[in-house]
Amino acid sequence: MNNLFNPYCKNSKEFIKNIKDWKNFGKKTQIDKIEGVNRYTNEFWTSKQRASHSIHEISYRACFKAQLPNFFITRLTNERDMIYDPFMGRGTTLIEAAINDRNCIGNDINPLSKALVLPRLNPPSLLEIQKRLELIHFNYKLKIKNKDLLTFYHSKTLIEIEKMKNYFKNKLRNKKFDNIDNWIRMIALNRLTGHSKGFFSIYTLPPNQAVSVESQKKINKKRNQKPEYRNTKKLIIEKTKSLLRSGSIKKPKIIKIYNYNSWETKKIANNSIALTVTSPPFLDIVDYQKDNWLRCWFLDLNISKLKISQIKRIDQWENFINKTIVELERITKSKGYLAFEVGEIGKDKKELERYVINAAKNTSFKSICVLINKQNFTKTSNAWGIKNNSKGTNTNRVVIFQKK
Ligand SMILES: C[S@@+](CC[C@H](N)C(=O)[O-])C[C@H]1O[C@@H](n2cnc3c(N)ncnc32)[C@H](O)[C@@H]1O
Repeated sequence: MNNLFNPYCKNSKEFIKNIKDWKNFGKKTQIDKIEGVNRYTNEFWTSKQRASHSIHEISYRACFKAQLPNFFITRLTNERDMIYDPFMGRGTTLIEAAINDRNCIGNDINPLSKALVLPRLNPPSLLEIQKRLELIHFNYKLKIKNKDLLTFYHSKTLIEIEKMKNYFKNKLRNKKFDNIDNWIRMIALNRLTGHSKGFFSIYTLPPNQAVSVESQKKINKKRNQKPEYRNTKKLIIEKTKSLLRSGSIKKPKIIKIYNYNSWETKKIANNSIALTVTSPPFLDIVDYQKDNWLRCWFLDLNISKLKISQIKRIDQWENFINKTIVELERITKSKGYLAFEVGEIGKDKKELERYVINAAKNTSFKSICVLINKQNFTKTSNAWGIKNNSKGTNTNRVVIFQKK
């Protein structure tokens, strides 16, 4: 049986045995082959499973649940090994690496990602955050600069947001921006818009999907709503308490975060990574640029200049994945692993894992197996980051490779 306390596997054979001995594998697992590789399909990770650390709980489009990187990190690496994610998003892989005493490197083409991840790898205390917030003073007589945003915010709330935005900008300019500021900025980014009173805005879409000003006008009209005042400092403290409710986390000895294309990560040393757990953009399913426009505004990032990959054609997508895997081949240690997750796309339900296996064909990565987490969801279920508004099935498709 699977050893719950130390599931570490010495080699890929042990890893396969570990999967098969795992209680969730059971008898129901469907076994077949894709491109000559064994594929195991089951509802492996259910929403009833042990909850992960609360510090993960910031929303991001198409993020995976912490159970996914946790599964591979605990089985395929040892403490202080180097874990990597070239498409880190909200940083689920890096945070899970830190929780499990591993070192971590992350990369994402969008600098927003660093602002969401770095502070959570080095959280300040609640008291430090409270004291810092006391130093930020709001002057409600100031003129609002971004009047368009009154569609989302009460004028007093918008003055508070604009003040914080400038406060961080000045601290960065004067090189006084520290991990406490970084934490507060991360929470503010996360609270900008959302669908409950825990957010700075009036009711809108969930926080990982900011709508345009025009769409928000329509939402306000339809719901007959007007932005009410939200106390930004109070909401920042509340969200901080919620993120830290499972306790703080220990800062890894080595943390490196980059902002490159996934295939040109020159600063990462050859043969340095023990395990990569990652999930790329799935063709052009999510518009990361559009969904994150308000968060990017808060950070003063010019979204039109971001080169986020949104690839329509499957052959071009395979080429993009191939370039990324060739780069991963350079930086991965001999016998190191790669867990490459892709989701389900479109009505034709393309099996994206097929293209991932093919994209690695001429590299020294050998596919060990494909794990498919198939979830039958109801309206409310949400395991491994899958959420939908109807009943049905959805999948996480993970190809596991080992470098020769
Ligand atoms: C599916 S999301 C990753 C989510 C992540 N697994 C998590 O749990 O938050 C894909 C990420 O790839 C990033 N991205 C898109 N094109 C990229 C590129 N060419 N190089 C690096 N990152 C890129 C996007 O900004 C987005 O954050």
